[in-house]
Amino acid sequence: MKTTINQVSKYVDQEVTIGVWLANKRSSGKIAFLQLRDGTGFMQGVVVKADVTEETFTHAKSLTQETSMYITGKIVEDARSPFGYEMQVKSIEVIDEAKDYPITPKEHGTEFLMDHRHLWLRSKKQHAIMKIRNQIIQATYQFFAQEGFTKIDPPILTGSAAEGTTELFHTKYFEEEAYLSQSGQLYMEAAAMALGKVFSFGPTFRAEKSKTRRHLIEFWMIEPEMAFTTHDESLEIQENYVQFLVESVLSHCQLELNTLERSLERLEKIKAPFPRITYDKAIELLKEKGYTDIEWGEDLGAPHETAIAESFDKPVFITHYPTNIKAFYMKPDPNRDNVVLCADLIAPEGYGEIIGGSSRIDDLELLEQRYKEHNLSDEAYNWYLELRKYGSVPHAGFGLGLERTVAWICGVDHVRETIPFPRLLNRLYP
Ligand code: 4AD
Repeated sequence: MKTTINQVSKYVDQEVTIGVWLANKRSSGKIAFLQLRDGTGFMQGVVVKADVTEETFTHAKSLTQETSMYITGKIVEDARSPFGYEMQVKSIEVIDEAKDYPITPKEHGTEFLMDHRHLWLRSKKQHAIMKIRNQIIQATYQFFAQEGFTKIDPPILTGSAAEGTTELFHTKYFEEEAYLSQSGQLYMEAAAMALGKVFSFGPTFRAEKSKTRRHLIEFWMIEPEMAFTTHDESLEIQENYVQFLVESVLSHCQLELNTLERSLERLEKIKAPFPRITYDKAIELLKEKGYTDIEWGEDLGAPHETAIAESFDKPVFITHYPTNIKAFYMKPDPNRDNVVLCADLIAPEGYGEIIGGSSRIDDLELLEQRYKEHNLSDEAYNWYLELRKYGSVPHAGFGLGLERTVAWICGVDHVRETIPFPRLLNRLYP
């Protein structure tokens, strides 16, 4: 019977064959312990000298790391192993013998591992992170489907910028100039006027010269946009969505969370509603904590976000930022026009901002005024203005950065480990 590691619980006390790679091994005189992986999981194979032919035992002891093979044996329950099962190996059929695999069980430096990302992905920790990333993507589709959203795919090649022009990747588009998308938001607003509640999930490109543990040049963003929706209603959707993601990982990825030694107790606390503080209050809090390097009107940096997050054990919304440090499309607070109806959601434990969102300006005249203030060309944005001419409605939306969310839920320090092939300031390979 051919099966996979994640299915072995169905075959206790039966003999099965699994296609595997050898992740690691150790042996004593009479027993060889093979750490096997097949992509679906990791499992130990035990080769007992007395139970196999002399040839099989010698062979098992000489297997090299990452050799691929079909391995056959009986599945047994084993309470001592984190996986709960192991294989009593009977025979081994090598497919390809790997020679001098560069990533050995010893410690390697980050640059070395990054140079070998195509192989590093095979390690147990990286496998766990990719599985959790996958679970978050699955849960995203599930959540928005059950909330009545339609998935919409905005273009990747664009003519207009959503988040300011400094971070754009330029490319030739025949005779014209185009940019790689830095947010699908403007298109999602058009889609929301057609389909009500929509969300996108796609690659996002930012030529940010930031070399921090939270910045990627290419990352993936989930961008919901909702017609007839207020700022507060949008915050409610956001906290329910984030709670749903965490619950989904907790219920489907126990093994992976254990591999990453993630504190379950901290994740179990992530229940809506999340605390909300205004930008004004955030500045006050920072002053109380002794930060003298920030004044009202300036954007918060990573250390400020971390300091604020320390006061809470759930993600915290910082709302109502000053108008002049936020994007042109954000709607002013009707009671106070020097701040906008926006919120950043800051993850706990220093993982930084995972969501940025706002209510959008729905008044034609005000939007036209903002175009002038921001020197935006009418031509490139004319279609966006038209959304305010034909049945404009209050609407809001947000963007969740997938990699930062994965980093937080996994408890991984740097976003470079949360995407299969990270694009960083100094890295385009592999
Ligand atoms: O706050 P941002 O820039 O928001 C927007 O792009 C809006 N147009 C979204 C919307 O309202 N539809 O980015 C949203 C999120 C951030 O909170 C962060 O999680 C992530 O995207 N992000 C990055 N992640 C990794 N590397 C980077 N360089 C990132 N820049 C933003």
